[in-house]
Amino acid sequence: MLRLQQHAGRRIAAAVVGSPAFRAVSSSATTPAPQQDLKLKSSAKGNIKFFKVYRWDPEQNQKPYLSTYPVDLDDCGPMVLDALFKIKNEQDPTLTFRRSCREGICGSCAMNIDGTNTLACLSYINKGPEPTKIYPLPHMYVLKDLVPDMTNFYDQYKSIEPWLQTKAVEAKDPNKEHLQSKEDRKKLDGMYECILCACCSTACPSYWWAADKYLGPAVLMQAYRWIEDSRDEYTKERLEALDDSFKLYRCHTIMNCTKVCPKHLNPGRAIAHIKKRLAATH
Ligand code: SF4
Ligand code: SF4
Ligand code: FES
Repeated sequence: MLRLQQHAGRRIAAAVVGSPAFRAVSSSATTPAPQQDLKLKSSAKGNIKFFKVYRWDPEQNQKPYLSTYPVDLDDCGPMVLDALFKIKNEQDPTLTFRRSCREGICGSCAMNIDGTNTLACLSYINKGPEPTKIYPLPHMYVLKDLVPDMTNFYDQYKSIEPWLQTKAVEAKDPNKEHLQSKEDRKKLDGMYECILCACCSTACPSYWWAADKYLGPAVLMQAYRWIEDSRDEYTKERLEALDDSFKLYRCHTIMNCTKVCPKHLNPGRAIAHIKKRLAATH
């Protein structure tokens, strides 16, 4: 069951009962700790930083809310993900978030930190006096706390058939290498490094309002990665499949996507290249 919820003027959350929380740091469901139960006393000593974290549990009959947690920075790693672990381990085991690699490779710790979509494991804790605010990726359905439902995003990725496709019978021989010149291989730089964290797509206003139809910058850049691959023989078909007023042309070149990418990639440019290639075929 999906249920939209309003929070802080943004469409963020939905209950998804029984959906898999892929790579989630899950927790046994207990009643969320009221803020007064937190160890606020510790603010009297140590180098305390407060974190305000979005909380929502589909199993509790409660609206989303922010929990405030004090963290002693003298006893914590430097990254926001370190602080989340410390909170979960020492203060509130019900706090739920995704992570895996802890080094910006898996893309699973993507969240909105102080208003910017980014990876918690690559974000240094801001040591300023203001509390750090942490929300799930914006405009996504939420499974629990900081865990968004990525089903639509992965379905869209699957729809672009992100694998090498060949036509010639001999090319289908699994023992045959698909050779590529150094120059052609270089054309994939800046695209193959994408970790599919969805920071860009969920920063895109067009994606916020039409995520069911518009493919969004992450998936479009991956589509272009296969269009540009000299070994792939379905370039024409791939371009034709994207020639759609919603799938591709909902991009209005606002470039939020490129600004926010934690891997410093440029999905906005990849989309512009797709449009250019299509313009040349018309
Ligand atoms: S350039 Fe296109 S994809 Fe990127 S944020 Fe703007 S509208 Fe979205
Ligand atoms: S382009 Fe950047 S922000 Fe977008 S999914 Fe890939 S790594 Fe994440
Ligand atoms: S934990 Fe893998 S990218 Fe952050």
